[in-house]
Amino acid sequence: MGLFQEGGGLMDLREVDKFAKEIIFEAGKRIREAFSYDIKIETKADANDLVTNIDRETEIFFIEKIKAFDSSHKILGEEGMGEGIQSLDGCVWIIDPIDGTMNFVKQHRHFMITIGFFVDGIGKLGYIFDVMREDLFYAIEGEGAWYNDSPLRKLQHVPLEKAVIGINASWVIPNKRVNHEKMIELVHSVRGTRSYGSAAMEIAFVVSGKLDAYISMRLSPWDIGGGTIIAREVGAFATNLKGEPCSLLSQDTFIIANPSIHSEILTNYIEEK
Ligand code: IPD
Ligand code: CA
Ligand code: CA
Repeated sequence: MGLFQEGGGLMDLREVDKFAKEIIFEAGKRIREAFSYDIKIETKADANDLVTNIDRETEIFFIEKIKAFDSSHKILGEEGMGEGIQSLDGCVWIIDPIDGTMNFVKQHRHFMITIGFFVDGIGKLGYIFDVMREDLFYAIEGEGAWYNDSPLRKLQHVPLEKAVIGINASWVIPNKRVNHEKMIELVHSVRGTRSYGSAAMEIAFVVSGKLDAYISMRLSPWDIGGGTIIAREVGAFATNLKGEPCSLLSQDTFIIANPSIHSEILTNYIEEK
């Protein structure tokens, strides 16, 4: 694992990885303990867009730890508790403190901490942590990806008719973003569909071969930042629905898929409105 140029000096990626894992495990422990206390639920953009004091407190925890680790590092977090970022220049952490807040509130499971560490826009370290199972999916640029202590294999060929894909039912009924008739055809063409309520969890499942694709009409940089880094190491293709690179500065459509079915899905089944 290499050294990389950072501000005035060289930084060891291994040190950053060690630090990232420490704060993820500590944050996970704090979140699990929070179930013993009052969780305060509020709404954001609409009545179903939930946020809790634990989402915010976890993001603040990460910001404080990272700033103490290196005050020059910048942080983009979903809850906007830090200064935010204008560009991907320098060392940037993209953080979703709880991905799957509705699952967190309703099910007390199936929610993730996900973090990507970027240097000048290049993904260096990616993490998706299933807080209740204490399962970590992670990757180091050029070194590979792991599920806990086991290396993740490069994805193997899967024909569409044997694929299991992650898709939300909203996109298979009339909606303003995508031709739902085409999506129905896609659902008929694959072996099965699943919907887990956490984008990061579905990405973790694709990179580990438990799903073969996951499609969303609207995700934010913090939903996908860490996952795109893991994707690259196992050969999964992650793009928007036009097949373009994912944006890490704005919301966009999203697909992550086994390379054997990525372009087939985009070409034959996705018709954006
Ligand atoms: C949400 C989850 C959900 C996805 C939404 C995301 P949040 O993240 O990942 O599965 O469909 O688009 O916003 O709000 O729980 O962090
Ligand atoms: Ca999220
Ligand atoms: Ca979140």
